[in-house]
Amino acid sequence: MRLILLGAPGAGKGTQAALLASEFNLCHVATGDLFREAQNKGTELGLLAKSYMEKGQLVPDSVTIGLLSERIKEPDCETGFILDGFPRSLVQAKALDRILAEAGLLIDYVIYIKVAEAELIRRLGGRWICRECQAPYHTVTSPPKKPGKCDRCDGELYQRADDNVNTIKDRLKVYFDQTEPLIDYYQKKQNLLQINGERGIDKVGQELVAMLES
Ligand code: AP5
Ligand code: MG
Ligand code: ZN
Repeated sequence: MRLILLGAPGAGKGTQAALLASEFNLCHVATGDLFREAQNKGTELGLLAKSYMEKGQLVPDSVTIGLLSERIKEPDCETGFILDGFPRSLVQAKALDRILAEAGLLIDYVIYIKVAEAELIRRLGGRWICRECQAPYHTVTSPPKKPGKCDRCDGELYQRADDNVNTIKDRLKVYFDQTEPLIDYYQKKQNLLQINGERGIDKVGQELVAMLES
């Protein structure tokens, strides 16, 4: 199975992608995580990505599309993948169509996780992430069992540099301008599934699994 998760910053793409990846044995490919990994390693790609991410802007297509294209060709993606945070613009969506066509692959479903803006802001403001395994937590809705430590791997939790009030506003603007038109793009391709992402994490996850199994 090959899936795309579409949704605004804070919609729960990372949370649900991790769940679906383990449920259906898929490779979880998140461009944002790949950029943060490059930053941690201090590579040239990491430095370049940082300069855009800290302003809430998209990293240029020339870099992002190449990175994604290489990543989905790695052996762990052979049996299926779930894309989280890509594509984010029409240019990226069309590039993905080309990459998949060349490889003779198809996307089974595009899942749009719908969440209202006020809730997105509330979620991003309270988010903490594991430095080791990227698992997301929230101070109110999904706190870790031990303060500051990841339930899964005991890694240290941190807040993302772009999860501050101003950058959250910029990220949402970029989303509404550049990414939201993809809902229409995939609706026309007739493989869009929409889910109400405002309920609890488990409820959304259960409904997603049921949708994909049916
Ligand atoms: P990226 O890392 O993809 O961030 P994003 O799109 O802004 O989305 P988030 O990761 O913030 O949200 P999410 O939907 O994953 O939510 P989560 O599950 O964590 O991108 C970061 C930057 O990288 C971009 O701004 C850009 O600069 C660059 N970039 C990345 N991809 C790119 C591309 N393709 N092209 C160009 N540039 C690119 O959940 C959020 C919080 O809510 C958590 O605390 C979670 O615990 C909580 N939560 C989740 N679900 C629920 C629920 N159902 N109920 C209550 N709380 C919930
Ligand atoms: Mg994410
Ligand atoms: Zn962890």
